[in-house]
Amino acid sequence: MAVGVAAEVKSKLSIVDVVGEQVALKKAGTIFKGLCPFHGEKTASFVVTPARETWHCFGCGEGGDIFSFVMKVENLTFPEALKRLAAKAGIEIDERTSRDDARKARLRAVLEQAIAFYHVVLTQSKVGARALEYLHGRGFTDETIERFQLGWAPEGWDQMSKMLQSRRNVTLPELAEIGLTTARPNGRGSYDKFRARIIFPIRDVSGNAVGIGGRILPEVAGALGADGMSTPGRAAPAANHDPGAPKYLNSPATSLFDKSRTLYLLEKARTEMRRLDQAVLVEGYTDALMAHQGGFGNVVASLGTALTPDQVALIARYAREIVLAYDVDPAGQHAGSVGGADLFRLIGSLAAEETGVEITRVRVARLPEGKDPDEVVRDTPDLWREAIRTAQPIMEFLIDYYATAYDLKKPEGRRHAVAAVVPLLREIRDPVVRDSYLQTLARRTGVEDRVLLEALRAPEPAAGSGRAGDGRGSGGSAGRFTADAVISAPDTIDTKAELKALTLEERRLLRLLLLVPEQQERVADSLRAQGTQLPSTPARELLAAVIADRERDRESGGSGRFERMRFLEALPPELHGLAIALYAERGPDPNELDANRVRIGVDQCLLALEADRLEDEIRFNAGELNEAHAAGDSQAEARLLEVQRNLNEARRSLDRRKQDTSLLASTGGHR
Ligand code: UTP
Ligand code: MN
Repeated sequence: MAVGVAAEVKSKLSIVDVVGEQVALKKAGTIFKGLCPFHGEKTASFVVTPARETWHCFGCGEGGDIFSFVMKVENLTFPEALKRLAAKAGIEIDERTSRDDARKARLRAVLEQAIAFYHVVLTQSKVGARALEYLHGRGFTDETIERFQLGWAPEGWDQMSKMLQSRRNVTLPELAEIGLTTARPNGRGSYDKFRARIIFPIRDVSGNAVGIGGRILPEVAGALGADGMSTPGRAAPAANHDPGAPKYLNSPATSLFDKSRTLYLLEKARTEMRRLDQAVLVEGYTDALMAHQGGFGNVVASLGTALTPDQVALIARYAREIVLAYDVDPAGQHAGSVGGADLFRLIGSLAAEETGVEITRVRVARLPEGKDPDEVVRDTPDLWREAIRTAQPIMEFLIDYYATAYDLKKPEGRRHAVAAVVPLLREIRDPVVRDSYLQTLARRTGVEDRVLLEALRAPEPAAGSGRAGDGRGSGGSAGRFTADAVISAPDTIDTKAELKALTLEERRLLRLLLLVPEQQERVADSLRAQGTQLPSTPARELLAAVIADRERDRESGGSGRFERMRFLEALPPELHGLAIALYAERGPDPNELDANRVRIGVDQCLLALEADRLEDEIRFNAGELNEAHAAGDSQAEARLLEVQRNLNEARRSLDRRKQDTSLLASTGGHR
């Protein structure tokens, strides 16, 4: 059972009811009070806060959520408590998973029906003749059209949905859910999203249909030549489309389709990628198709988005070498090319730790100026083969590029070249690799490496390199394992549900701690010093597992290093999904932030948690004060007033610290 169930348990069970079975609770404003079951007491200092689904004893300092309460009272482990409470909430885990699977299977089947429909229209109807002619004109064979199930979405508003509904027993909500229909703005009815477009079915790595891409046709029959639409950037006049209609349209994100984790033709390419230990990445559907048709089976396309770390990690499962057959143009002169900002992101994605990719094994193929891969493969396959073979390591390619683009005889030129490359170098995690490229840059530009090093460090604070090294350099296997786990995550775990088991602060904090291990012990120590724990039991358990991993290292004579692989392996199964969901969660990459910023982020989380606790206590004390006053107990009243003053002072000091950290955060850690 995964902790994803935890959030559901909490939403189904009232903490007041569960605690109320053991402790006599009395309502006091928005909270409930009772005698603490964990230490002997005569006056009630045990509080349940339904709004936060927490309990806390101001006498003994114990506290937590519904799970930690049951664990303590009944002396259970977390998985036992989880199971017990899930049963109490009437949650049938296995049944629910299979219901979900069945729903997805049904949606996939609907999508397959639509793909089959489009394919039949293309290959067997008059309506599809012009599109078929166009594809033939670009050099695609019938065999390719068959093998990749290309299709034609006919004109008209609802041809596909009408057909599927009447003949195939498909419902409109199902079509909407897989993104094939769009609701009309007036809320009445819906229409086919893909009309008058060539259809490219998109599948996941196992070959399940997840979405489609659709391309418009050029307007004039005479322009059907190979070059008809291949000039990137030029607005294509198109049949039955507004002049502004996009050339390609993809399915929106759905429960089946996550673009950032999908690569076109991966299901076909993976075997060959593995065999060759090499993957070739192109930008377009047509490029990938033509490559496969030409016998280059290790080619995949990236679906029109900037390459994501998830996509890179997906490739890294099958091949260590990646060749980019992109239109790389750092100056961004031709539209549709990979420009400077894209490159920066691209290098970041490629070098991201979790991908397990070595940047030295990423190369850029040079294709003839202005030619798309599909044309090169079709017209000059030998040239393609050669371009892939002689592709240049990406960092060398870039250094060369900038060294040529600027006049290195002039100081200005040198400055520009260095300024262009240095941010890219910063994206490289491995210090040894980074240094070797720094040397290359020094050689090429004639700028001393000492100076380059200074430039490299410039925006980073003096305190430490900030490139948190603790969890890194532990070998590719750790990165790979995580990447694999993360990638399979959407299929096997419901990441959203997993994360719901934590509060937002806990989620932020733990994500930082998993990715930047240096902060782990500080947080554990700080919580211990405050005599508190994280509010949610799953968060608590995960932090404990992190610390336990470091202990394990110490026991075997190490210095207490966190080792991600070992950590994940030793993790109790119910926490696995949570850890993976945290690793997979999108957000700023902590490794891109310097050490100060990460520390500030962690501090902010800790302060927010502290503030929650303080507010609880202030509210509790105010209630006590009211009671004492009503009872005319002036002695107690005086004591509680003193407590109130102290609490208010604590709140002011906390607010000051909060302000300080947010000021620090906004100045990037410098003051
Ligand atoms: P290109 O415009 O380079 O198209 O876009 P292409 O693949 O070379 O197509 P042909 O050869 O003209 O038929 C490259 C990729 O970017 C995405 C698509 O995935 C396309 O394959 N794209 C492009 C979009 O998603 N939307 C667009 O409007 C254009
Ligand atoms: Mn093209």
